[in-house]
Amino acid sequence: MDVAAFTGFDGPESVEVETRDDPEPGEGEAVIDVEACSINRHDLWIVEGESAMVTDDALPFVSGLDVAGTVAAVGEDVENGAGARTGGEAGITPGDRVVLCPNETCGTCRYCREGPENLCENFSLFHGGLAERALCEVDRLVVLPDSVSMTSATALPTAYMTAYHMLRRGDLAATDLVSIPGATGGVGVAAVQLVGALGARSIGTTSSSEKADRLREIGADHVIESGDPAEIATKTREIGDPDVVINHLGGEFTRAGLESMRRGGRMVICGRTAGGTSEIDVAPFFLSHQRVIGSTMGTQADLERLVGLVEGGAFEPPVDETYDLAETDAAFADMASRDAFGKLVVEP
Ligand SMILES: NC(=O)c1ccc[n+]([C@@H]2O[C@H](COP(=O)([O-])OP(=O)(O)OC[C@H]3O[C@@H](n4cnc5c(N)ncnc54)[C@H](OP(=O)(O)O)[C@@H]3O)[C@@H](O)[C@H]2O)c1
Ligand SMILES: [Zn+2]
Repeated sequence: MDVAAFTGFDGPESVEVETRDDPEPGEGEAVIDVEACSINRHDLWIVEGESAMVTDDALPFVSGLDVAGTVAAVGEDVENGAGARTGGEAGITPGDRVVLCPNETCGTCRYCREGPENLCENFSLFHGGLAERALCEVDRLVVLPDSVSMTSATALPTAYMTAYHMLRRGDLAATDLVSIPGATGGVGVAAVQLVGALGARSIGTTSSSEKADRLREIGADHVIESGDPAEIATKTREIGDPDVVINHLGGEFTRAGLESMRRGGRMVICGRTAGGTSEIDVAPFFLSHQRVIGSTMGTQADLERLVGLVEGGAFEPPVDETYDLAETDAAFADMASRDAFGKLVVEP
């Protein structure tokens, strides 16, 4: 089979197509014919050498978390009923259309036992979707209804699961006003659509006027055209003081976001695209009861709910571009250039 491998850490130019042996399913495993695998900034960090998760000795490395495809084969124990889902449903069988929950958890630590599973002290993520075939744990597969396309499904695991879990962690209520700085990428677009689907109102920001139009099209209630954290804070306050700030940019967006947030507001942080530090005043935390909440990925149950929301027509993830496996380098170059709106999807 062909894979798109990272052969170095020089950015998109380090992505090359290689040939590997087809995987064989072992105990509790399934081989998926990958039909779509969306890319995330997480993969870009890796190929740019910014992730501590992947070092020289792991090269060549096949990334890709968001596997959607058809089950080609399952391990012998799975054929005999292992991995059957609860509720009397049959287990995973060849031919099933599935999406993978990329969470990898130990299943035994205190957090796995008490939940939520994304707090697992050994938490890690599946990689290997940028390939014609992927070897996955059968328990991490979510069966797709016929009405949910592979392209929509592959958008959901990382971006939408993260955004959805952040909104849950931020105690989102209908009618809340949610500020989403950098609302045009994976997590940002997901947050805008989910805020709308859950009955709240969004403020989305972008530095590009072209992408601002698209933000309005997908239902952002307010759009701020700026990439400057202080200007965004001022314009946000003119609209209203947000109840929730979805912060995947970090850096100066953190201080500015806290300054714009209402008394009792909640900022949920999942990333640091714009930097890892920000100088903040501690006073608002006790004077205004503001909260800062960290969040990573979501739970498999979140992913199942998201599949249900797409099936029910609550939203359709916008996909900016699809690429053949051989064009995976171009997909990463497009992400790096900041021209994309929504998800970029590789179709191996
Ligand atoms: N902890 C977790 O579980 C988790 C899960 C998913 C993602 N993340 C993190 O969340 C972040 C977003 O991920 P993603 O996959 O959604 O990325 P993405 O699709 O590349 O995000 C693009 C968005 O970020 C904005 N942006 C990009 N570079 C920027 C910069 N230097 N300054 C300000 N804005 C910038 C863009 O704004 P313009 O419209 O102005 O171009 C656009 O709105 C990443 O840091 C990622 O690592 C964390
Ligand atoms: Zn655990």
